[in-house]
Amino acid sequence: MKRKKVVAGNWKMNMNLEESKKLISELMQINVENVDVKIAPSFTNLFHSNIMLDSSSIEVISQDMHHEQKGAFTGEISAEMLLGIGIKTSIIGHSERRKYFGETDLILSKKVNSAIENKMKIVFCIGEELMDRNNNNHFDIIESQLRNGIFHIESSQFKNIIIAYEPVWAIGTGMTANSDQIQEMHQFIRDLVNSKFGNEISQNIKILYGGSVKPSNAKEIFSLKDIDGGLIGGASLNFSDFNSIVEAANE
Ligand code: PGA
Repeated sequence: MKRKKVVAGNWKMNMNLEESKKLISELMQINVENVDVKIAPSFTNLFHSNIMLDSSSIEVISQDMHHEQKGAFTGEISAEMLLGIGIKTSIIGHSERRKYFGETDLILSKKVNSAIENKMKIVFCIGEELMDRNNNNHFDIIESQLRNGIFHIESSQFKNIIIAYEPVWAIGTGMTANSDQIQEMHQFIRDLVNSKFGNEISQNIKILYGGSVKPSNAKEIFSLKDIDGGLIGGASLNFSDFNSIVEAANE
């Protein structure tokens, strides 16, 4: 089964308006056939980023969304608001949201429901802490994050999901999981999807790796059997690194 690779840049809380305009004008040069390229700027940069990339194949996505449609939720952004400015995909469940903003599996499952109800696509993040791995708990953690976060949705909706496996200990630390660890976990995730939703869906689901992906390791990671691309943090903030990673996925 040949799945088209995905490379998504998660800008996190970086890039003011001017910086983001500069990076986007560089990103416009990207022209690849075999990779779906996405960028996730901050909320304040979504609108103009989407306009600037209107005629490009790069998709602009959000880093998060709230599960309610509207109301008294100061500081939050809903699916309806995102759709209103042409944003059709959201990252949900990034480990920084789980860790710093107390987002539990229950909250994340509500966000997933809202995205699905609003016909949005989802990049759903999962990942274990270093302690989980050291205690040999990592498979249990990943399984429970999947079961609690997305396994309740209808199988017909599963095509709207991309899974991003990001071991928390590898995010922004320069430490990358090694190839065996990555392939082993991605295969485990695909097998779980198979046992829940069947072979066809499990063969089609895209599973990205995230955690210190950079130009020097992207090619090796993307060549692994069950890896369908990457969610890129730090290295998505400069054109040259991000472009090299996209090129590595395009091979
Ligand atoms: P990193 O972040 O590439 O800087 O490790 C990845 C992520 O958090 O998505």
